[in-house]
Amino acid sequence: MPHPISDKLIAWYQNHKRTLPWRDINDPYKIWLSEIILQQTQVAQGLSYYQKFIDAFPNVNLLAKAKEDKVLQLWQGLGYYSRARNLHAAAKFVSKEYKGQFPKTYDDIRELKGVGDYTAAAIASFAYNLPYAVVDGNVYRVYARVFDINLPVNSTKGKKQFQLLANELLNAKKPALHNSAIMEFGALHCKPQNPLCETCPIQVHCSAYKNNTISLRPVKQKKITIKHRYLHYFVLNYKNKVYVQKRTQKDIWQNLYEFFLIETQEPMPSNQLLENTSLLQLTSQFKVQSIQVVAKHMLSHQHLHTTFYELNLESPIRKHESLRLVNRCDLETLAIPQLIKKYLK
Ligand code: ADE
Repeated sequence: MPHPISDKLIAWYQNHKRTLPWRDINDPYKIWLSEIILQQTQVAQGLSYYQKFIDAFPNVNLLAKAKEDKVLQLWQGLGYYSRARNLHAAAKFVSKEYKGQFPKTYDDIRELKGVGDYTAAAIASFAYNLPYAVVDGNVYRVYARVFDINLPVNSTKGKKQFQLLANELLNAKKPALHNSAIMEFGALHCKPQNPLCETCPIQVHCSAYKNNTISLRPVKQKKITIKHRYLHYFVLNYKNKVYVQKRTQKDIWQNLYEFFLIETQEPMPSNQLLENTSLLQLTSQFKVQSIQVVAKHMLSHQHLHTTFYELNLESPIRKHESLRLVNRCDLETLAIPQLIKKYLK
C-alpha cells in the first residue's frame, strides 16, 4: 500500500501542475535534455534553451552529428559548460552504441555521461514509468518536513537515508506521476520560504507542522572550507643542541613547542625559503643537512603541508626573543605536536 501522501500529492498535482513542454510526453531524448538543462538552471530560464535545442536537434542522432561548437553556442548563457560537453558525448554514445535508441534500463541510463542518480531516476520514471524514486532539493524538503527529519540532507548519511525513504514511499504503481507530483509540490507549495501550510493537502501528515519546525527543515550542513597551510620548519642544530620556541598564538598547538617556523599560504620552493629574511636574520652561516617533506597532516578544517629543513649552524644564532637552545635528548620532556614527534622518530 502506498503511503497516503502519495495519492494526495498526485491529486494536488493534477490540479496545480504547470504545463511544461517536457511534461506528459515519454520521449526519453526530450526528457533527458530537459533534465540536463534543469540540473543547475531554473525552469523559467531553461524553457527557451530547451526549445532552441529541440528545434536545432529534434532527435539524439541529430545532436550526435552536430559540431561541438554549435552545441556550445546554443548553450551560451546557461553556464556549467561541462553539461553541454557531456550531453554531446552522451548523444554520440547513444547514436553509436545503441543505434540511436535511448537506453531503456536505469543502469544503462545511469552510465551516460552527465547522468547521476537523480537524473537517471527522472528519465527512467518519466520516460518508461520505471519504479525509481527521484530525490532532488524539492524532495529533500518535502520529506524532511513531513517526517520532521533533522539529519543534514547534504551529509553522506543524510543522502543515503533520504534515498532509502524515497524508495520506500515511492508509489510503485505510478512512479512517473508520484515523482512529478512530489517535485512540483516542493517547487510550488512546500516552498523553501513561506510554504503554504494553511492550504496544504498533506498538513495532517506533516510532523514538522505539528512540531512547529517547518522553518528549520531541511537541515543543511555548513560546507566546511579546508584551509591549506604550508609549514616550513627549520631544525636549527648547534652542536648537540637544537633551537625550539613555544607557540603562544591562539591557533593550533597553543603552548606547545616547535622548531623555528616560516608559514606560507602557498607552496614555496626551498631556495626561496633559505633566502627568507626572517631566517637570515638569525643566521647566515649554516649547512643544509637534509630537507624532508612530511605527508599532509589533516585536521578537521585544515590540511598542513609540512617540510623540515635540518640545518647545522656554525655558530649560535643572534639573540632572539623566543628561541631557546635545548639538548636534543631533552626534546622528549617538552610538549610538542604529534606531527613534530613523528618527524623526530
Ligand atoms: N526540475 C528538474 N526536473 C524538472 C521537471 N521535470 N519539471 C520541473 N522542474 C524540474
